[in-house]
Amino acid sequence: MNKEQIQLIQSSYKGKKVFLTGHTGFKGSWLLYWLKQLGAEVKGYALHPDQSESLYNSMNGDSMCDSVIADIRNKDRLSQEIKEYQPDFVFHLAAQPLVRLSYEIPAETFEVNAVGTANVLDGIRHLKKSCIGVMITTDKVYENKEWHHPYRESDQLGGYDPYSASKACTELVISSYRNSFLNPYDYQNHHKSIVSARAGNVIGGGDWAKDRIIPDIVKALIGNRSIEVRNPKAVRPWQHVLEPLGGYLLLGAMLLKEPVKHSYSWNFGPQIEDNLDVESLVQTAIKVWGTGKYETQKQINQPHEAGLLKLDISKAMAELNWKPKWSAETTIEKTLSWYKKRLNGVSASELLESDINSYSTN
Ligand SMILES: NC(=O)c1ccc[n+]([C@@H]2O[C@H](COP(=O)([O-])OP(=O)(O)OC[C@H]3O[C@@H](n4cnc5c(N)ncnc54)[C@H](O)[C@@H]3O)[C@@H](O)[C@H]2O)c1
Repeated sequence: MNKEQIQLIQSSYKGKKVFLTGHTGFKGSWLLYWLKQLGAEVKGYALHPDQSESLYNSMNGDSMCDSVIADIRNKDRLSQEIKEYQPDFVFHLAAQPLVRLSYEIPAETFEVNAVGTANVLDGIRHLKKSCIGVMITTDKVYENKEWHHPYRESDQLGGYDPYSASKACTELVISSYRNSFLNPYDYQNHHKSIVSARAGNVIGGGDWAKDRIIPDIVKALIGNRSIEVRNPKAVRPWQHVLEPLGGYLLLGAMLLKEPVKHSYSWNFGPQIEDNLDVESLVQTAIKVWGTGKYETQKQINQPHEAGLLKLDISKAMAELNWKPKWSAETTIEKTLSWYKKRLNGVSASELLESDINSYSTN
């Protein structure tokens, strides 16, 4: 983000009310911290943090927001919380976000991701005031053809595994609500702007989720174990967590100025050369850490995961003037050194502050 965009963000969220779902998760905790730094008031809605060492707990998230611990599938509770709060912005991040878990709990994944999003949109729809809704899906919403060209916003939606399919369904839910109830052409009557944001594979300090590459790498490095790599040749659009979050904040700020113009779907991913395979990510992580080794796991009886996935970000670059700031190498370096410093006793808040400041000022 450039200087004007940082200033726009700073002026757009100060004193505003933000309803943030998924505030106890990895991305939600980073966003909560950034929003508070921007002077926003935040009400969070999510389940309890998964792990005791969660980022949310270590940054004392409860002291930063009004935290509601409840299920997104509880439509009445969710509607009541949104109605009571009267938010200016809703950032919807709550989801079951794991591909491998989605093979174990497919129906629940569809309920939480697709129906949960409909519940959030219903809450927004019934507000009698203006509101901007930034709904977070994923790079995996596209019908994956295992081809080399990156996916554009206009490409066909689809999904092999239940997680990807549930998020493609979520996209349909969002566009249906936008068309049927919150149509940009009818803005003068409802005063709502709804967008969906599709980000790449996000990494950054403080993620401890199961079955995710960075937590797996860090746990192995700390334990002096060999890193087990499932899909070494799988290519993913890796990006630092601040990149898509900056995109979401920018989108929200631009909608505040022009509520109709940007009400569509947006990809936020890395530059094309930063789409790396898993093996290169692991090798760079080991280099940054200074020690470590890895081995590739045999792919017998493993659930299907996409092999090749790249995102086309030319629309966000052309129309929002957004572009990623940090290369893959910088992203991996920032991420690994976050964990290293944390292990050396630096507080989570200090590390969040330092990364956000460096992202916002350099
Ligand atoms: N991490 C990534 O690489 C990545 C990439 C693309 C998109 N995303 C999307 O970003 C969003 C946030 O992902 P994350 O990495 O922070 O995941 P996370 O697992 O760390 O956090 C998920 C959040 O959703 C909440 N949640 C889950 N089920 C819920 C339910 N039934 N009711 C209420 N809250 C519930 C959790 O409590 C948590 O706060 C998700 O929508 C995910 O699909 C993540």
